[in-house]
This record gives sequence, C-alpha cells and structure tokens, in this order.
Amino acid sequence: MEDRIISANLMMEDSAVELSLRPRYLSEYIGQTKAKENLKVFIEAAKLRKEALDHVLLYGPPGLGKTTLSNIIANELGVNLRTTSGPAIERPGDLAALLTNLQEGDVLFIDEIHRLHRTVEEVLYPAMEDFALDIMIGKGPSARSVRLELPPFTLIGATTRAGLLSAPLRDRFGVVSRLEFYSVDELAFIISRTSEILDVGIVGEAAQEIAMRSRGTPRIANRLLKRVRDFAQVRGDGIITHELARNAMELIQVDPLGLDRIDHKMLTAMITNYRGGPVGLDTIAATIGEESQTIEDVYEPYLMQIGFLQRTPRGRVVAPQAYRHLGLPLPEQFGGAAGQTEDMN
Ligand SMILES: Nc1ncnc2c1ncn2[C@@H]1O[C@H](COP(=O)(O)OP(=O)(O)OP(=O)(O)O)[C@@H](O)[C@H]1O
Ligand SMILES: [Mg+2]
Repeated sequence: MEDRIISANLMMEDSAVELSLRPRYLSEYIGQTKAKENLKVFIEAAKLRKEALDHVLLYGPPGLGKTTLSNIIANELGVNLRTTSGPAIERPGDLAALLTNLQEGDVLFIDEIHRLHRTVEEVLYPAMEDFALDIMIGKGPSARSVRLELPPFTLIGATTRAGLLSAPLRDRFGVVSRLEFYSVDELAFIISRTSEILDVGIVGEAAQEIAMRSRGTPRIANRLLKRVRDFAQVRGDGIITHELARNAMELIQVDPLGLDRIDHKMLTAMITNYRGGPVGLDTIAATIGEESQTIEDVYEPYLMQIGFLQRTPRGRVVAPQAYRHLGLPLPEQFGGAAGQTEDMN
C-alpha cells in the first residue's frame, strides 16, 4: 500500500532527488500565492526591523511543500535552520538543548508538530512567547525554577493535522498558513522545471497530461515525471511526448484524474456494498484493508477536493461525479435509475 505511486507521502525513491528539486527561494516556489505573498511581507518587515520573524505554522496535506517552504524562509531571512520533528523530541531536556544552541534570528523547524509530547510542549510555550526557558533546579522542597534567556528565534511548525494541535500551542503562532492543492497549470510548471533539472526533454502537452494526474501535489507530479522519464528512455528517444506520457500513465494505472486502482476499489466498494454511503470511515478501511488514519489524512483530502467524496456527520458519501467517472449508474437519490431496478423486478 505504501508504494502506491500516487501516494503523497514521502517514499524511499523520492528522498534522493527531492533535495535537488527543492526550490531554494520564494521566487522559485511555484503557486501558494496567498501564503507566499504574506510571508514575503513578514520576512521583509522582520529583516527591516532586524528582528526574528514571528513563529509560523504551516499546515496542509503531505507533499504540498511545507518542508520546502520552511527551508526557503530560513534562506530568505539569511539565518540558520535547525530541523527536528515532534516525535524526535522525547524529553523537555532535548528541546532545551535545541533551543539553547540557536543563534539570534535562527529558525527552528519542527515537523509533525502535532506529535509533540505534552511535557515538551509546555517547555515550548514560554520559549515561544518570552524567549525564555524555565528550568527546575534541585529536587523536593529545595527545588526552584530558574529562568534562562534565549536568543529571539523563529519557530516553524509543520503539520498535516492542524486539528490535533492544542489550542495554546496554535495560539502562539503569529503566522498561520494553510497550503492548498496546486492547479494543473502550476503543476505543469513544476514538472517542466523538474525536467530541466533532471535534464530530460518534455513537450508542453505532456507536462499538462502528467500535471492533471498529480492530485494537486508537487511530490506526486515529480514522482510521476520520473516514471515517465524511464519510459521515454527505454521505449522512446528520451523526449517525453504527449503520447508517451499518456501511454505511460495507462501502464502504471493512474487515471486522468490521478486516481489509481485503490481509489477505484474504495469508491466502487462504497457504491456497491453501501449504496454510496453514508458509510463510516472504519468500515471503509476494513472493506479495502487500509488504515483509517491513512485514508483520512492522505487519500480522502484529494477525493473531497475534486468533489468525489463528502464527509457528513453520518459518514462518507460518494458524490454523483464519482459515479460518472467510474462509469457506474447513478442511484435514485441523485435522479438516476440504479436504485429503481430492484423495485421494478
Ligand atoms: N511550490 C513548489 N514549487 C516547486 N516544487 C515544489 C513546491 N512545493 C513542493 N515542491 C516539491 O515537492 C516536494 C515535496 O515537498 P515537501 O517535502 O516540502 O512537502 P511537505 O509538505 O513537507 O510534505 P510532508 O507533509 O510529507 O512532510 C519537494 O521536494 C519539492 O521538489
Ligand atoms: Mg515535510
């Protein structure tokens, strides 16, 4: 399951090249206009005032460029970037060590910040708010707390699950940016840029064709491009033509909307077994043999984005567009005939 080509999660094959594909400055960062425009102003202002940038929270589905953007922010500010992740900081002391090693204005990037331990989170509050660490010295009745000054720094938190962040933590971020899925044109642009870096020729229609199937996600766009490049080198003359791109996509079974066999399986199961829903997340997960969490974080956001799936209080519901895409008859409640066959017999 983890090796689904259209998975937005980072996979082994990505890591080697991802580094070289990452844009390094805001001007190279395609799309996300809103987040970018805001950040540009805040970064400028912080530089003018010679202050640390406000703490930034970046959230959104995997592969949309949160880590990339954090790197860019540090580059634009001209400061050091320290990278860690929520689960990696096991004890308050680990965080204290990270914080006391920062230089003035540095960026501390905490990935998966929703997975911070509660005890660590509590140390983070005064650090974010007052640039101070409260440390307990001694034990028992003679224990006392001393306050340690920290250099002003910028915390950048990234998460795919902003809903899991505690309110006090969330409130301490001055800048909160939600990353959006990319448009086909933006993805086509990213694909052309990546082709240049990978030194492979691609025609405009082919870039569009791959972009259409990339589920709004740069990481998937780059991965699909790499697969298509393999076909171009083995079967073609090294140039990615429109036809080659389309054939390659068919062979790796990614449909024109970027859905793969598992998406088809999930939607079809919901339609045939549960009349298109409402059906609970756990039921869907059990039916297709996947974890609820993965479905919710990784696959559903895109299906909802393209209007194929709706979340209702009673469960997930398949929308009419999905029936059409799968070539299945629309049920009665959508004005179709599928629900009537039984009654008429
Ligand atoms: N705006 C962009 N322009 C060009 N390429 C991008 C952009 N955003 C992301 N990418 C590409 O997509 C890849 C994945 O991005 P990144 O690792 O930053 O995603 P992420 O949001 O941190 O994902 P995760 O949630 O899995 O940590 C990057 O290596 C980069 O090549
Ligand atoms: Mg990341």
